[in-house]
Amino acid sequence: MFPATSTFAPLKGPTPPAPPSLPFIGNYFALKNDSLKFLRRSARDHGDVVRVEFLTQVFYLISSPEYIERLLLTENQFVMKDYGEQMLKRTFLGTGLLTAEGDEHKQMRKMSSPAFSRARILGYGKVMSDLAEEEFAQWKSGEVYDVHREMSHLAQRIVARTLFDSDGSDNSLVIGDIMAEIMPVIALRNFAEIIMKLPLGVKQRVDRNIEKLDAIIGGIIDEHIAGGVDRGDLLSMLIEGKKAAGKDLSAPEERKRLRDEALTIYLAGFETTANAMTWTLHLLARHPQKQQTMAEEITSVMGNRAATIEDTGNLKYTRAVIAESMRLYPPAWVIGRVLLKDFEFGAYTIPKGAEVWMSQYVMHRDPRYWQNPDDFDPERWLAEGFAPSKYVYFPFSSGPRNCIGEQFAWLEATVVLANALRRFEFHDIGEKVATEPLITLRPKDGLRLRISHRR
Ligand code: HEM
Repeated sequence: MFPATSTFAPLKGPTPPAPPSLPFIGNYFALKNDSLKFLRRSARDHGDVVRVEFLTQVFYLISSPEYIERLLLTENQFVMKDYGEQMLKRTFLGTGLLTAEGDEHKQMRKMSSPAFSRARILGYGKVMSDLAEEEFAQWKSGEVYDVHREMSHLAQRIVARTLFDSDGSDNSLVIGDIMAEIMPVIALRNFAEIIMKLPLGVKQRVDRNIEKLDAIIGGIIDEHIAGGVDRGDLLSMLIEGKKAAGKDLSAPEERKRLRDEALTIYLAGFETTANAMTWTLHLLARHPQKQQTMAEEITSVMGNRAATIEDTGNLKYTRAVIAESMRLYPPAWVIGRVLLKDFEFGAYTIPKGAEVWMSQYVMHRDPRYWQNPDDFDPERWLAEGFAPSKYVYFPFSSGPRNCIGEQFAWLEATVVLANALRRFEFHDIGEKVATEPLITLRPKDGLRLRISHRR
């Protein structure tokens, strides 16, 4: 996590309210100790525009659906990705969909869209279901599993297979190990760049890992281009999109682009979905009655076989459970943007160059928009006429930079969880579970549950 505005851009007009802070340090400790609680309390106590200071930096927490709609949709051309993501672009990700800006982003999004079309995504459903079955067939009743670890591993295999058509074992394991080395540095966002400049050996380690990663992904890209056929995976579609746009794939800069795009999808695609599945299992273990209702739906729709794409439309309670889980534990818990012009939000003018934060975690639990906001209540999603605003509930963001993988993620979470609950009951083992809001919202120190065969 952690904010990133490196300037105290001067304000025009009144200063937005701010939570109490210490000189020079600002709200550092409150953010470091429990950023979710701090942000939620700040919005509750100080309103829709709150100024937060963090060491030498400042950001504004925006918590009004109307202002969020302007930032994500109607005036999105006047914002760009936050400073942390700009760092990621420079050091690691290059220019992929997540980090591209302006016309370049538009072009890239257009080229990538066919790879994420509904028809194409449906083709990945079988891969998802098969890999989940393979995984759960090895699980043993009575054992305790760190489901966060298991879901991360499974989500990586799924994205590796659907993205690269790799056999999902060798490459995904190696890539997984490399990611495990790099992720803690990436999670520091803009501070990563500073740390990488210190003589700590971090840079050498990260560079070595990136080199390894580039060699693997480069090899896969070369194979795809040389093969010249659609292998049914996302990478084939990205290549097709580029060919259709007249790009020269033998040019080094086009290969670098493909590498950046593939790596972005890999990175954006596994951790978020793994966290969504993990938090869902956590909530189900804590609410056995809801787990029972979901399992009954799964049995009535699927009987005793693995989930198929056709089933997903009938798993309505299951979808409500996932929607509710992403409300309480949004895997992407905050979206940051830098303003490219002054924005007026009510009485306040937030200046060009400032960084704003919109937090799904804050909005998804705001009592102005949700009844009993902290309760796990999947039934709310099934109530007649229930349709929260896209700027109050936005786990996948909204507007032209929304998540291109949303359908993919829904399909994956539904199929994997349906296969899991078909076989097993998940039991809470009484451990305290803490949240860790890094780039994604994950459980701190894993999440252990006991499983038993479903009766
Ligand atoms: C539960 C799972 C997921 C969640 C909660 C999620 C959430 C998000 C959010 C909030 C954004 C917008 C970020 C911003 O504007 O700053 C985003 C963008 C993106 N996501 Fe996801 N995502 C998920 C799964 C996936 C999957 C499975 C893929 C790919 C296979 C994916 C690929 C992307 C890409 C490429 C972008 C950048 C889109 C653009 O800027 O045009 N995501 N995601």
